[in-house]
Amino acid sequence: FACLATVSNAQEAIYDESLIPEFTLPDPFTTTSGEVVENADQWINQRRGEILDLFASEVYGSAPPAPEEVRSELISYHANALGGKAIREEVDLLLGDEESPLVARLLIYRLQTDEKVPAFLALNFGGNHSIHPDPEITLNKNWMRNKPASGYENHQATEASRGASASRWPVEKIVERGYALVTIYYGDFDPDFDDGFENGLHGEYPGSGESISPKDWGSIAAWAWGLSRALDYLEQSPSIDGERVAVLGHSRLGKTSLWAGASDPRFALVISNNSGCGGAALSRRRFGESVRRINTSFPHWFCDNFLKYNDNEDELPVDQHLLIAAIAPRPVYIASAEEDRWADPHGEFLSALHADPVYRLLGTDGFGGDAAPEEMPEINQPINSGTIGYHIRSGKHDVTDYDWDQYLDFADRHLKSTDE
Ligand code: GCU
Repeated sequence: FACLATVSNAQEAIYDESLIPEFTLPDPFTTTSGEVVENADQWINQRRGEILDLFASEVYGSAPPAPEEVRSELISYHANALGGKAIREEVDLLLGDEESPLVARLLIYRLQTDEKVPAFLALNFGGNHSIHPDPEITLNKNWMRNKPASGYENHQATEASRGASASRWPVEKIVERGYALVTIYYGDFDPDFDDGFENGLHGEYPGSGESISPKDWGSIAAWAWGLSRALDYLEQSPSIDGERVAVLGHSRLGKTSLWAGASDPRFALVISNNSGCGGAALSRRRFGESVRRINTSFPHWFCDNFLKYNDNEDELPVDQHLLIAAIAPRPVYIASAEEDRWADPHGEFLSALHADPVYRLLGTDGFGGDAAPEEMPEINQPINSGTIGYHIRSGKHDVTDYDWDQYLDFADRHLKSTDE
């Protein structure tokens, strides 16, 4: 333990299981006041809300209430996109100020059909135009983090960034499988840098007033809130089934999809791809990225109260298994990658495992179906028969076709069952 006490941002991260201190996870079934949760009603009406409040006040920060009306504008419509296979639309969501609203642009690909289709909703890192080389997607002009991929200069996307992230977005396959793909550039909601709550949704909805309170929402909460606003729009869409929307995200956007899915029960299915610290990985393990490391590198992601837990994870009133549990009984899929040790694959698996008892209390088949797995699965051997799915694939921190194949199969099972 002495070694841990000296871990600071400048020092090496822990990559050795034997250096993880012993810890006790907060019990899903014991309330803050020490009451024992004995049945599903008590979980849903008491403990679940308490857990969400704790994540809001201690980890991600509290978001404003949903706006009363959904304001949107159709920007473009193309009936024969993807070589005639799909409809492509761009829709602007208008948020906040009436006169000069914040604009977040949805890019939608869907099959030409009269039936409402289920959808995957996911934020993207490089602008909507980065997900597919389709030249008619509007090039996003907002501030971008400079990406390792070519096509981004001085925090601006250039024409050369069209399709830059296409390997992460098998658009044709998603549409052919009968799903709409709805994506939004995450920086439309909140630019990903520490600007002291000035811009993006923070500027539009200035939390608790003149000074920033330790509970005010960080960027992850802002991005998650943006996803809920996109869902407001999808619920009113004549072509997409708002009751069958899966929310998906990679890495910091995987943390975001988990918080969106936990805090907004309208999301029918939740997918975390390599979300790591502050996402699916247990904070108490301190493996790879620790709470101190993430708060130091990305001080704007979480609320200021989260700083209290730098090198002090055992004091957290929650851990990330409770974030997964707060999604129950809705299906959730957690994916890790073998070489993505920074995100602590084992810690991501353990969150799923420790959420399993809640899923079972709520009457689902939990993690692994008949019985929860005793150990992590082998590489590329998904556990996907239950309501919690998990895999660790070979390779690095990324979203690959392999990941999507698992998500599509999992979504088929949960969003397309014939007995609905
Ligand atoms: C960094 C960060 C992670 C995050 C990742 C990403 O590696 O430390 O927490 O998940 O960026 O979003 O790509």
